[in-house]
Amino acid sequence: MSTARRRVMAGNWKMYKTQSETRAFFAAFLPMIGDAAHCDVVMAPPFTSIAAAVEAAKGSRVAIAGQNSHWQKEGAFTGEVSPQMLVEAGCTHVIVGHSERRQYANETDDMVSQKSRAALAAGLTPVVCLGENFTERETGKTQEVLSQQFIGGPGALTAEEFSRILLAYEPVWAIGTGRTATPDIAAAAHRFLRQCVRDQFSPEAAAGLRILYGGSVKPDNIQGLMAQEELDGALVGGASLDPKWFAAIVNTK
Ligand code: PGA
Repeated sequence: MSTARRRVMAGNWKMYKTQSETRAFFAAFLPMIGDAAHCDVVMAPPFTSIAAAVEAAKGSRVAIAGQNSHWQKEGAFTGEVSPQMLVEAGCTHVIVGHSERRQYANETDDMVSQKSRAALAAGLTPVVCLGENFTERETGKTQEVLSQQFIGGPGALTAEEFSRILLAYEPVWAIGTGRTATPDIAAAAHRFLRQCVRDQFSPEAAAGLRILYGGSVKPDNIQGLMAQEELDGALVGGASLDPKWFAAIVNTK
C-alpha cells in the first residue's frame, strides 16, 4: 500500500532566517541533496524570505511553501496573506493549522478547513497539521482529539478537495521539545488517522493519503521513523534550519 505513496520531506523554518540567511542555506543545501529523486522536498520559509527561497531553489526539485494563508481571497485583514499571493510569489504548498498557530493565533478546526479549501482553490497543496497535546495524551484522549480535529478540519472538505491535501501528524508534546514520538507511537496515530479517512471518505482516499510525521525529527531518528510503512514523510522544524541536518533527513532512504 505504502509503495504507491511518494515520500515528502518538508521543512518549516517558523520565524527563522532572513533573506540572506535563506540564500546561504540553499547554496549549502542543494548540492548536498543531488536530485533527491526518491522524495518530494518542500521548504516553508517566513513570508519575507519566500522570494529569496523561490529564486535560490529555481531549477532544483525543492518546492516552496507558505507557513500560513488566509481563507479569504483578499480583504481588510491586516497582517494576513492570501493563497493567491503565495501562488504568485512562487509557492506550491502552504502549511495549515500548525499547532503554534492553533495555540498563539487561536486557529480553530473550522478555520483549518476554510483555509485548506481556499488554498486548494488557489492551486496550493495544503499541509494540514493536527495532533494532541501532552495532557490529552496522558489522559488517554489522543484518539478523541485527533478524530475531532480531523472531522472539523480536513474531514470537512469534499472528497475531491481531500484527495489533494497532505496531512501532518504533529503531537504537540514532541514539537521543539526533543521528545520525538517513538516510531510505534507515530505509526499508531497514523493508522488511526487513516481509519478516520476511511470512515469519512473511502478506503481509496485512506490508502492514497500521504501522512507526514512532525515533532523533533532529527538525522539520528529519521531512519527509525521512516522504517514505519505508515509514515509517508516528515515535517521538520528545528533540524530543517541546518543544511547538513536537513540534507541528511532528505537523503534517508
Ligand atoms: P520541530 O518542529 O521539528 O522543531 O519539533 C516541528 C514542527 O513544528 O513542524
